[in-house]
Amino acid sequence: MSAAIDVVREAGDSAAVPPCDSRFHYVPPWRAATLGALAERVLPPVADVAARCAAAARPDEPITAAETATLIAACAYVRLRGGGDGCTLAFGGLPPELAGHARSERMTVRAALECVGWFDANQRFLTGVHIAPDGPAGTRPFDGALYGPELARRYAPARQVTERFNDVLRGFAKDFLCSRRVLELGTGTGRLARNVAPFAGSYTGIEASRAMIDAGRRDGLDVRHGDMMAMPFATGSFDAVVEHESIDFCTEPLLAATEVERVLALGGRFYRVELETAPAAGIGRLQEGITARLADMSGGVFPYWTKGQRQRLHGWLLWRGFVHRRIELARWDETRTLRDWLQGLVNASYPSFSGIDERTALSVCAELAGAASLGDLDTRWPGRVGMTLHQYEFIDWCCPGHRPRPRT
Ligand SMILES: C[S@@+](CC[C@H](N)C(=O)[O-])C[C@H]1O[C@@H](n2cnc3c(N)ncnc32)[C@H](O)[C@@H]1O
Repeated sequence: MSAAIDVVREAGDSAAVPPCDSRFHYVPPWRAATLGALAERVLPPVADVAARCAAAARPDEPITAAETATLIAACAYVRLRGGGDGCTLAFGGLPPELAGHARSERMTVRAALECVGWFDANQRFLTGVHIAPDGPAGTRPFDGALYGPELARRYAPARQVTERFNDVLRGFAKDFLCSRRVLELGTGTGRLARNVAPFAGSYTGIEASRAMIDAGRRDGLDVRHGDMMAMPFATGSFDAVVEHESIDFCTEPLLAATEVERVLALGGRFYRVELETAPAAGIGRLQEGITARLADMSGGVFPYWTKGQRQRLHGWLLWRGFVHRRIELARWDETRTLRDWLQGLVNASYPSFSGIDERTALSVCAELAGAASLGDLDTRWPGRVGMTLHQYEFIDWCCPGHRPRPRT
């Protein structure tokens, strides 16, 4: 199987993305034929893994090495099919210390089902073919299973935001969202919503996890339970769509981007708010070490690694004709406890690690921090925080079905 993949890669894919082709990825004809042959070899084994895992009684049971290899080959195939456009969600984009786990026999049934769900969404997106038409149990992106009640309970306490963060968001909302019809993707527990909703003309959120909505409903925000990849809103019904750390977390961000394009009114804008933290030297390495240890303990790596997704999404939006502007909202120095710099690691409140109990995660953090001579978790360390806004403006159509090339 990997030999066939190598043949495709050697053939080279220098074809540029066409300016105005269709709503889907462009696949050169010669490549489509080769990939079609490859698909015949890759798809059936994935369906077998999906069926076997859906029927498995224990989600923490490890899958076999052969099944892991099947999923890895399938993900490589999807990356090829996607035109090598940086679709690194699956194993190819993992940091080296985690790729080892992904290639071993350690992936669990739960992780395998997520992987099949990811693969199915990509396959559907690229070719319109469902690999798992009914979705094996646990793989449907919309059920919000990744952010269940336990993770929703842990989520907000480990994402304490400073007043400065809230101020910057309110400033952004006053300057950019004032009196507009605003939609937020993946509202979560409402970190962004609480700050921006008061300044919007109207505010609507969409969130896949009922547990996350329940954890954030207290402010009376209008948050719908739904899938950002298939939104229940009319075409052209919003002036602005905003998101913070959520589009990267959906199964296929480009499907969500297609929906953003649809629900935005002409002249509307898509805003991605990025938060960058740069803690003191040594803490970044500590974060990597803790991540690797927790991945090891959690018995499997989820395919939800966002490396490469931002570039991929950016390229897609430009191709669709959105005009991009990068705006630095603020940058400041901040001193925090090590516990705060380690954010979601101290209580394992990332989807990949939520099988680990909080006390264990805390003790791993404390042990590795001590070993790295960074003190205990209450030691304060300086760092730098920045907030950047990516504005994508939806200008006009060249024809009813297609967007124009970006204008320079
Ligand atoms: C990392 S959290 C971020 C939440 C919030 N934006 C924040 O900054 O705190 C990602 C959120 O995206 C949601 N999400 C993931 N896939 C989704 C989908 N397909 N449709 C809607 N929400 C989704 C998750 O349930 C989760 O609440």
